[in-house]
Amino acid sequence: MNGRLFSMSSDSSNTIESVLQEQRVFLPPKALADKARIGNLTVYKDMVQKAKDDPDSFWGDLARKELKWFKPFDRVLDWSNPPFARWFDGGQTNISFNCLDRHLETSRADKEALIWEGEPGDVRRFTYKELHLEVCRAANALKALGIGKGDLVALYMPMIPEAAIAMLACARIGAPHSVVFGGFSAEALRDRLIDGNAKAVITADGGFRKDKSVPLKPAVDAALGNGACPSVQSVLVVQRINTPTAMQSGRDHWWHELVTDQSSECSAEPMESEDRLFVLYTSGSTGKPKGVVHTTAGYNLWAHLTFKWIFDIREEDIYWCTADVGWITGHSYIVYGPLSNGATSVMYEGAPRPSKPGAFWELIQKHKISIFYTAPTAIRAFMKNGRSVPDQFDMSSLRLLGTVGEPINPEAWMWYREVIGGGLCPVIDTWWQTETGGVMISPLPGATPTKPGSATFPLPGIDADVVDANGNSVKPNEGGYLVIRDPWPGMMRTVHGNEQRFRESYWEYLRPSDGSYIYFAGDGARCDEDGYFWVMGRVDDVINVSGHRLGTMEIESALVSHPAVSEAAVVGRQDELKGESIVAFVTLESGREFNDQLVQDLRAHVGSEIGPIARPDLIKSSDALPKTRSGKIMRRILRALAAGKEVSGDTSTLEDRSVLDKLRG
Ligand code: WTA
Repeated sequence: MNGRLFSMSSDSSNTIESVLQEQRVFLPPKALADKARIGNLTVYKDMVQKAKDDPDSFWGDLARKELKWFKPFDRVLDWSNPPFARWFDGGQTNISFNCLDRHLETSRADKEALIWEGEPGDVRRFTYKELHLEVCRAANALKALGIGKGDLVALYMPMIPEAAIAMLACARIGAPHSVVFGGFSAEALRDRLIDGNAKAVITADGGFRKDKSVPLKPAVDAALGNGACPSVQSVLVVQRINTPTAMQSGRDHWWHELVTDQSSECSAEPMESEDRLFVLYTSGSTGKPKGVVHTTAGYNLWAHLTFKWIFDIREEDIYWCTADVGWITGHSYIVYGPLSNGATSVMYEGAPRPSKPGAFWELIQKHKISIFYTAPTAIRAFMKNGRSVPDQFDMSSLRLLGTVGEPINPEAWMWYREVIGGGLCPVIDTWWQTETGGVMISPLPGATPTKPGSATFPLPGIDADVVDANGNSVKPNEGGYLVIRDPWPGMMRTVHGNEQRFRESYWEYLRPSDGSYIYFAGDGARCDEDGYFWVMGRVDDVINVSGHRLGTMEIESALVSHPAVSEAAVVGRQDELKGESIVAFVTLESGREFNDQLVQDLRAHVGSEIGPIARPDLIKSSDALPKTRSGKIMRRILRALAAGKEVSGDTSTLEDRSVLDKLRG
């Protein structure tokens, strides 16, 4: 693809290297800015000011304007009991109504809501009318299984339309969903079913992945085996790969038998603003994954607004986000954000694979996709394969490129802009988290000059800052903790079943001297002299592998649950493609020998305890691990060793200094 490479200057040295050296800033294309809702920084700054001066009317006006309410709310925000926020109390709404029913009264009824493509190339399309019908049927099927308001339903699904339909059906009847990524193991699924007290599981016989059909239902059977999850009464199974599937009578039902015959009428349950919408498990620095709780109205508003702002969505856009519905990005930006805005959302079951390295670009060409949202790890993999693959496709339909999940290195940013966007599409680097519900720091395509590698500025209403351990703002270009000072509608409400953990992990880690509560994201960042945010990555014991969040403690406890391992410490190591890779240091039980077979066994063991994404890339054995006198593993030392660097800094607290030499050797 050829195109104007840079919008700001017209010199001839348009190489990626020269641009990076000059730290050039890219202005929004004029044609885009002219049409955009937020078309310059003055409009943006006015919004920021309004939110600061009068947050209640800022958020209240938006909530009234952007969502349909069955009953208006009485109060915008109740922050009288921090860190527990209540948004839009007294109001009643339903996100399934906002994503479907409200569009049926408009010309969007016959607009495509979802375009889905399976890996084998099968395509299914749903207009808003059709999607509404499917969701109503599924909702009635759930009711027929005895599921009602407040009952938690777990989804363990491949990327098929039924995943989105099931989420919307749960929301419709007020049953919170808990989507568990289909790549997690039976063990991981079981933990989440037990923790959430799930009443039902929706799954599929399997899905297609990298030219193979991968069964899924057996993992559900294994998770439920031996009466491990007594709360689960039914399992609803979508037939996707047509493989022989064991069905337990009384418990298991085929989707095509139960759902298809249901009535296509099912009115959306009026939900209180603060009723739970979903629980989504994510990794933290300690213990088991935590169930992040999001509630109805605030999450709906935030997913809706952010989607509208960051992509400046237009009626004719065809939008594609490559995430999996098992992650927050799939929740907010495949399903809820796009549908709440009446957009056309594309969903793809497959992935680029040796038989089809250009799978993504082919899809963009075929469906004339105008907005493409993916992860830096994918971009780096494409970069490595060279531009000859994407250059075979016509991607002139693209107008915006988004990225999410991890810091994007400036080289990948530039490659994305130049090779995929032909130099014409702004790159929207969006920083956010499962906990924040939606994007927090991101360029606005019509307004924000971008710098490669920076997520730029906080969205209106988001008071982000970089602070020291006392909660004081640090100077420009000084590193610190990334925090959010004020509550926002999409914020998580608690950790399911563990309020203490919610307080401690996010709100009590940093306590400013004035006693205020500030939200600590777990990331390190710096703000440059122009106020641009540069997110550096996690500062806690969470690692980010190909945009997937994993707790080092989770992997460690999986390793020590193997009979050969007595102790384990896991750290991340910088990786060119994956962002970070997983390095494990293990101490073996006496009499055990460290060899290739054991390494393979340990990797497989972690795969079955958590899922293949958590398998260590490198396992090293050591007689002992570097610990402080109080027994804390000194990860700083292990991180340096894993990176092949000299151990610097203070090692005086090491209990046994000879450990260092052994580890080096
Ligand atoms: C990281 C994914 C830098 C960050 C939406 C965060 C990013 C964690 C970016 C959340 C970005 C996400 N730049 N880092 N644009 N986006 N991260 O909960 O470390 O799966 O804390 O949510 O991903 O991961 P999560």
